[in-house]
Amino acid sequence: MKAAPSRRDHLRAQLADLKMPGALEALDEILAGLDGGTLTAPAALDALLQAQIALRNHRRLDAAMRSSRLPAVKTLADFDFSFQPSIKREQLDSLHTLGFLERKENVVFLGPPGVGKTHLAISLAIAAAESGRRVYYGTLGDLITSLEEASQAGRLLHRMKTLTFPSLLIVDEIGYLPISRTGAMLFFQLMSRRYEHASTVLTSNKSFEAWGEVFGDEVMAAALIDRLVHHCHIVNIRGNSYRMRHHAELHRALGTARSADTPPRSRSRTKEAAAT
Ligand SMILES: Nc1ncnc2c1ncn2[C@@H]1O[C@H](COP(=O)(O)OP(=O)(O)OP(=O)(O)O)[C@@H](O)[C@H]1O
Ligand SMILES: [Mg+2]
Repeated sequence: MKAAPSRRDHLRAQLADLKMPGALEALDEILAGLDGGTLTAPAALDALLQAQIALRNHRRLDAAMRSSRLPAVKTLADFDFSFQPSIKREQLDSLHTLGFLERKENVVFLGPPGVGKTHLAISLAIAAAESGRRVYYGTLGDLITSLEEASQAGRLLHRMKTLTFPSLLIVDEIGYLPISRTGAMLFFQLMSRRYEHASTVLTSNKSFEAWGEVFGDEVMAAALIDRLVHHCHIVNIRGNSYRMRHHAELHRALGTARSADTPPRSRSRTKEAAAT
């Protein structure tokens, strides 16, 4: 039966009162679906709530894009799994349900340039932001520079706290740029603070074996990796660069179709083995 005009107005007023503009906007179409018999009552309620949730998630994402410094919007839906068969879709689907955030586990994406490490790290960050969690993105270089600057300005503790606070911190591009000894020490302190407190997603073109060289200190790198992999999902991507997908010859000439050096050694405390 068609909803009486007064009932419709009352519904509109209530949705406005509850500050549910997404549901309000979808209301007429949903009522039309009910009137026309294309929607059952449960489906209509579902659609109404979905419309509000979609708007809320969109707003959360907008706010997160401003505060998190994410460099782009990349989602799992945009990711072509057929191009990168070494990635197990089920593992990525499971990570996107965000249980790892609840359990304060880390995720490490390892692999050569262009295989989708940053894309997948960002898509996890976006899923986390849409779920209302605070996320923060930085390359290792940017994060270390900000810690060094804070240290020089006598505000190190404040900066450490700021970077420890987000439910998810993305540390991108470990291994591309050289790091000073002080920078490596500051990063180690940050990771020690986040250890078992909040999740970190890291990406690197270098296998763990090479991190001693990256951080300029084998002992510190070993202690850092030990903390990281204690509760950790490792996604070891072996494949070709998506950037070079139309340049097969150039790709072969550069020899970039390989995994991140050698795969990491399995560690007794690692929860999930490398996706080899
Ligand atoms: N399988 C894929 N499907 C769709 N787009 C992809 C895929 N892999 C990568 N891309 C896109 O290709 C570009 C390069 O990917 P990305 O930046 O994630 O690579 P990366 O592994 O982080 O490389 P680097 O080590 O050089 O930083 C991005 O625009 C990304 O969205
Ligand atoms: Mg990258």
